[in-house]
Amino acid sequence: MDLWQIGDWVELLLRWVHVIAGIAWIGSSFYFIALDAGLKKNDMLDPGVGGEAWQVHGGGFYRIQKYMVAPSFLPNELTWFKWEAYSTWIFGFALLVVVYYSNPDLYLIDRSVADIGSANAVIIALLSLPISWLIYDSICRSALGRNPARLSIAGFVLLVVAIWGLTHLFSGRGAMMQIGALVGSIMVANVFFVIIPNQKKIIAALLLGEKANPTLGLQGKQRSLHNNYLTLPVVFLMISNHYPFLSSGPSSWLIVSGVFIIGFLVRHFFNLKHSGRAPQWWLLPLASLVTLALMISTTSFVRGTGAASETATPVDFSEVQRIVSTRCQVCHSAVPRFQGLSQPPKGVMFDSPAEIATLAPQIYVQAVASHAMPLNNLTEITDDERRKLAIWISSGAKLP
Ligand code: HEC
Repeated sequence: MDLWQIGDWVELLLRWVHVIAGIAWIGSSFYFIALDAGLKKNDMLDPGVGGEAWQVHGGGFYRIQKYMVAPSFLPNELTWFKWEAYSTWIFGFALLVVVYYSNPDLYLIDRSVADIGSANAVIIALLSLPISWLIYDSICRSALGRNPARLSIAGFVLLVVAIWGLTHLFSGRGAMMQIGALVGSIMVANVFFVIIPNQKKIIAALLLGEKANPTLGLQGKQRSLHNNYLTLPVVFLMISNHYPFLSSGPSSWLIVSGVFIIGFLVRHFFNLKHSGRAPQWWLLPLASLVTLALMISTTSFVRGTGAASETATPVDFSEVQRIVSTRCQVCHSAVPRFQGLSQPPKGVMFDSPAEIATLAPQIYVQAVASHAMPLNNLTEITDDERRKLAIWISSGAKLP
């Protein structure tokens, strides 16, 4: 087995476990937020029980009661929900290191965005995770944190600032992943530093026969609600990196901010619906409207870039072949010459005229309609060369 294959296996296995753990975490998060919203009070509940819900699943009925702070006694067996979150982060972070931080030239930096150097890029990316957590955590604990509406607005403004900053420091694709990692890390830190420790304090007080401080429980609930609203956009960011029209445009920061708004609206709709109140249907068309606005903003970007005019002088294939071999083939060849690549990325090769012609539509998507390729423009393709590719492709991508 070649060495590169071991590397690919490691990456694939990390990705697999990361996704599975994420499914378990998001699943339990959605389940508990919906359960919490659906709890109902009745006269028969024990003192200390805030509400109860009946559910049917897997051939049986469940009757779930929620003690708002702590019950008067604790059973020996108590199921905790924390390893779903921790393992999502541990395997996700390992993947981030293996794919992005060990290949910053390929995936993290783009000299046309900011010439920050590979080592600096990795240091900034690593530091942005704890720094953003410290800022978020301190505003949640400040006076602002007691007012959910003001806290959400302040949190969103800070988030947009972070998105703007990261999209102006890293390559389009690197920025998307880094924003996802940053928000995902805040979510896991909520579990690790607030939700679980507070729960442990509540249990400790209970075992001592003391009354637990109710703010501990409220803090935990606030943070798990934040996590719930952040889930949809984070998943979007994690799966977005193969769509260059999202991340390679000049206003990718606006698109990402818009995705957080869409995620908020859709989650809010479901949270209200699960609480048994009248469904607020208007939230869904509003989310669709924001989605439509994002779609329109990316198509105008695509049209504006290097589109070929009908009257342009035809471009000869020899010229196309020269461009592809100088700007693309270092990486996209059966034996890539680019350091760090042991095989052609995504199996895309431009070694023969037939391969170039067959892949013309992909060349158009990656190098003309968006500037995703050449990756971070490491091979310094010019706008004129992109335009020539566009003319050749739009006139039928003909071979001589
Ligand atoms: C510095 C190396 C490098 C150069 C130069 C480069 N690419 Fe790529 N290319 C990559 C990598 C890495 C990927 C895989 C990205 C991923 O994992 O999504 C890729 C992926 C692609 C894909 C597949 C995209 C997908 O998601 O299916 C196409 C098509 C492509 N490149 C075309 C080009 C063209 C056209 C050029 C020249 C104009 C070019 N590339 C130059 C590194 C390079």
